Amino acid sequence: MICLGIESTAHTFGAGIVNNNEVVSDVKDMYIPPKGSGIIPREAGIHHIEKSTSIIKECLEKADMTMKDIDAVAFSQGPGLPQCLRVGGVVARMLALKHKKPLLGVNHCVAHIEVGKNCTSSKDPVVLYLSGGNTQVIAFTEGRYRVFGETQDVPIGNALDMIARSFGLSMPGGIHIERLAKSGKYFELPYVVKGMDLSFSGLATEAIRQYKKGVSMEDVSYSFQETCFAMLAEVAERAMAHTGKRELLLVGGVAANKRLQEMLNIMCEERGAKFFVVPMKYSGDNGSMIAVTGSIYNRPIEIENSDVRQKWRVDEVAIDS
Ligand code: ATP
Ligand code: FE2
Repeated sequence: MICLGIESTAHTFGAGIVNNNEVVSDVKDMYIPPKGSGIIPREAGIHHIEKSTSIIKECLEKADMTMKDIDAVAFSQGPGLPQCLRVGGVVARMLALKHKKPLLGVNHCVAHIEVGKNCTSSKDPVVLYLSGGNTQVIAFTEGRYRVFGETQDVPIGNALDMIARSFGLSMPGGIHIERLAKSGKYFELPYVVKGMDLSFSGLATEAIRQYKKGVSMEDVSYSFQETCFAMLAEVAERAMAHTGKRELLLVGGVAANKRLQEMLNIMCEERGAKFFVVPMKYSGDNGSMIAVTGSIYNRPIEIENSDVRQKWRVDEVAIDS
């Protein structure tokens, strides 16, 4: 099956084409907020409107295909920012209607997981899904991806972005924090794990406070990373022990972080478990992950039922197998 996938949940507008789950083309462009600001949903939506045509055109050209070659159009139906989601929704509906193709509504979180599984040999993992909008420990049980633990406040990527913004650095902030942390020293920050849930808000506030008091960007970055990554490793390990699963799969934009990968790898080695990471190319939002997921599930929806779902949780999606 050849599937065109469209991603537009937040800052990225992306299109990807897969042929039997092999990525043949992937094109994306990211909205960059004004300096010192987080994502402005209306502006991101306008970015997506302006870029959508050229991105889809380029994606088809790179695959050396036209819409005639496409068997189905998949789009990120949720969760995400409504101003952004609607752009992908409109574009996907128009393409499906005009070219008489089935329309596939994909859950963005499931897509982060499926692209991770598709690119690795991971079969039945505990998943750490870490991004700007989500922080969840997920595992497949009884027909669904269930959430075993999650953030009680801000997601990890958002916290990294907040700290980078306080340093006056551009988005996405996680990349800067990773670079700065390489030459930092450790100081203690609040370690907040509550049962299986995590909290990053107080930790980020304290890190920013220390920076404003004169602690270097490097030390703040290093200490922040060490603290939150240890918290994540603890909860992931507990989920593995609880579910009896022997694999850990790291997905989402924050998965690109090498220090996080290193810490989780050590934890898995100590348990005799296998550790997998989504390739960096597909860790951030992209159209291919939507195309992969659309192809795997292949569940066409009617145009009338294709409204975007701003708060569509991963555990609301029936997977069945
Ligand atoms: P979702 O809708 O799934 O929550 P998202 O909109 O946050 O996705 P992603 O592209 O999945 O988008 O993730 C972006 C996040 O990843 C940002 O918060 C960014 O700072 C973070 N990030 C990117 N690279 C790194 C890195 N090397 N280390 C840590 N964090 C990173
Ligand atoms: Fe994402």
